Amino acid sequence: MCLKSSLDSIECRDLLLSLTNDKLYLVMDKDEFPEIVFKKTPEVSIKIDSVEDLAYAKKVIEDFFCRKNWNKNKIFDIIISVSEAVSNVLKHAQNGNINIYYEDDSAYISVSDSGEGIEIEDIPRLIQKGESSKASLGMGFSIIIELSSAVWIHTNSNGTILIIMIEKF
Ligand SMILES: Nc1ncnc2c1ncn2[C@@H]1O[C@H](COP(=O)(O)OP(=O)(O)OP(=O)(O)O)[C@@H](O)[C@H]1O
Ligand SMILES: [Mg+2]
Repeated sequence: MCLKSSLDSIECRDLLLSLTNDKLYLVMDKDEFPEIVFKKTPEVSIKIDSVEDLAYAKKVIEDFFCRKNWNKNKIFDIIISVSEAVSNVLKHAQNGNINIYYEDDSAYISVSDSGEGIEIEDIPRLIQKGESSKASLGMGFSIIIELSSAVWIHTNSNGTILIIMIEKF
């Protein structure tokens, strides 16, 4: 289902930017990801196979950002948004990975999976509150977008990569 028939990827990207106040960027080609993911190695890497891994990831993330002296509210925002992204991996794709890149008081948190992906023309609908392909609340994407400074999404039949950027100040 799409907002209008045969939305192409460029139209989808423009629509997503306008729906999200320029926060959600649809990545068609992987080199459109923020440069940091190519030029730096992640400071944290966690494999996600189960809800136990999500609990472990929350603890690791809390410790990591405490060590960087982020305030409690920001750490809470990160944990909520990463939890939503990881829940999506577990709910819609089975397993995946979290990688955290860090530079100049900005964190880039990549949550990736090798699931079936999302139809690009469905994304503008699925980021709205209450939209879900499962018996779920359909709140994950809107929470992630609300709590972050920027989000990049790349998705196809080989999987989905979400990069969530959150700033310290
Ligand atoms: N990693 C993913 N792989 C495949 N589809 C996904 C993925 N993440 C999200 N989706 C699709 O996007 C939809 C919206 O995701 P969102 O997180 O907003 O809601 P939800 O997961 O369905 O419900 P909630 O997050 O409230 O439990 C999902 O229903 C699913 O169809
Ligand atoms: Mg979700």
